[in-house]
Amino acid sequence: MAQYDVIIIGGGPGGYNAAIRAGQLGMKVAIVEGRETLGGTCLNVGCIPSKALLHASELYEMAIKDFASMGIDVAPKLNLAQMMANKAESVTGLTKGVEFLMKKNKVEWLKGWGKIAGPGKVSVKAADGSEAVHEAKNIVIATGSVPSGLPGVTVDNKRIVDSTGALAIPEVPKSMIVIGAGVIGLELGSVWRRLGAKVTVVEYLDRITPGMDTETATAFQKALTKQGMEFKLGAKVTGAKVGKSGVDLTFEPVAGGAAETLSADYVLLAIGRRPYTEGLGLESVGIVPDKRGVVANDHYKTSAPGVWVIGDVTSGPMLAHKAEDEAVACIELIAGKAGHMNYDIIPGVIYTYPEVATVGKTEDELKAAGVAYKVGKFPFLANSRAKVNHETEGFVKVIADAKTDRVLGVHMIGPSVSEMIGEYCVAMEFAAASEDVARTCHPHPTRSEALRQAAMGVEGWTMQA
Ligand code: FAD
Ligand code: NAI
Repeated sequence: MAQYDVIIIGGGPGGYNAAIRAGQLGMKVAIVEGRETLGGTCLNVGCIPSKALLHASELYEMAIKDFASMGIDVAPKLNLAQMMANKAESVTGLTKGVEFLMKKNKVEWLKGWGKIAGPGKVSVKAADGSEAVHEAKNIVIATGSVPSGLPGVTVDNKRIVDSTGALAIPEVPKSMIVIGAGVIGLELGSVWRRLGAKVTVVEYLDRITPGMDTETATAFQKALTKQGMEFKLGAKVTGAKVGKSGVDLTFEPVAGGAAETLSADYVLLAIGRRPYTEGLGLESVGIVPDKRGVVANDHYKTSAPGVWVIGDVTSGPMLAHKAEDEAVACIELIAGKAGHMNYDIIPGVIYTYPEVATVGKTEDELKAAGVAYKVGKFPFLANSRAKVNHETEGFVKVIADAKTDRVLGVHMIGPSVSEMIGEYCVAMEFAAASEDVARTCHPHPTRSEALRQAAMGVEGWTMQA
């Protein structure tokens, strides 16, 4: 029986990055993954396929709506099968890439479903039913998450789909109801709306994207509404009935009142995800997960000696880059190094049009904590590159500490803001003051000038607006 330094259970961004780092540090390492391909939720049914469809559908809508005004006459015709094939190609390319990285870093892939079988032991059940037990000094749990369910709304991935089903609908629905105005609902709802569906979003709370800076969320909802997405907020779903060609969804106001029934070709259930620990054998090492998954201390250690946990299956934002950073820090700690990650600076992006990108504290959080702050804001309407490109929706908002001027949070809505938030992540990591960004030369004409102008706005010397 092989004795490993580390066995990682789960081949997603948490698991495969942990495996690579362990390989780099010269450990004998194996990764256990039950799917046919590595890459986890993110590469197979999450980040990557959703972004492939978001990109293609955005170009499709742009070709219909915006090309003519720029002197490009085209008559776009949707080829959904090709759009799906393009998505599949992106997924395959990247999952194969991860497989290559495993080989390059001498990581053994134990194919099958893993189960902790007592201290230092992992049993792996292969697709043919055979089972083998492997020994390891350290076990890293990286089993990720799965979609949360809702009583009365049974996902069949035919008419009532979860995010995985919504990435593979074989036709453009005439209508779609999305339950949950969160990241998945708004991203995948946008895909199908752009391709032609009438999309109605039913949300339990009285706002969209809970947790997001309220001013930004309000602007976001306005932008999506303008595009034709409809919102039913403060609505409690009470049931869904699947018929021959669609679904009847009933809901009632959370505040009380008459129930409503809405019919649509498809329903997408996207009300959050839950940590995945089924069949993992946690009881064999005395680990009892809570609602947020496997509990760990600040250093990814669980209550069981030699068992560590990272990614979606433990607390914190369910984001690929959070899982990746935890992976590196966790393995470095196992190797006796000073693995570290800064939980105050985890960016979040919604890849709709316009995009939303945020990092750090929101105004709401600072108000609640009684922290005095200043705000600098700059609209893309006043940014020359955005104007030239006819993409003027949105703004950049910088929040700085009123006393020290240290940047505490940045919230942006607009075109390509996903690619710009990293600048503020670096600035914040280096404890920048807003003035540091305000006095940093930025290229002209670029959208990135809006980042600087917003920082200048903190002290009231914005120049381009
Ligand atoms: P996962 O990626 O879930 O990987 C866990 C892996 O473990 C899975 O492959 C699973 O098969 C395997 N596994 C589970 N149990 C066992 C077992 N017992 N034995 C063997 N293998 C096992 N995040 C972003 O940051 N950006 C995005 O744009 C983004 N888009 C998303 C879009 C969608 C539609 C969804 C659903 C999610 C998206 N996410 C995004 C979230 C992101 O996918 C997750 O945060 C990320 O995948 C978490 O990584 P992980 O390694 O913790 O878990
Ligand atoms: P979410 O937590 O982002 O949003 C869920 C929404 O559903 C919330 O607005 C919530 O109030 C609402 N809701 C909850 N119960 C409800 C009910 N019974 N009826 C109506 N509405 C209800 O979760 P989502 O969108 O499912 O995404 C799951 C995770 O995947 C997120 O944590 C996110 O971080 C990750 N993800 C990240 C992406 C990105 O980084 N771009 C893209 C997609 C997913």
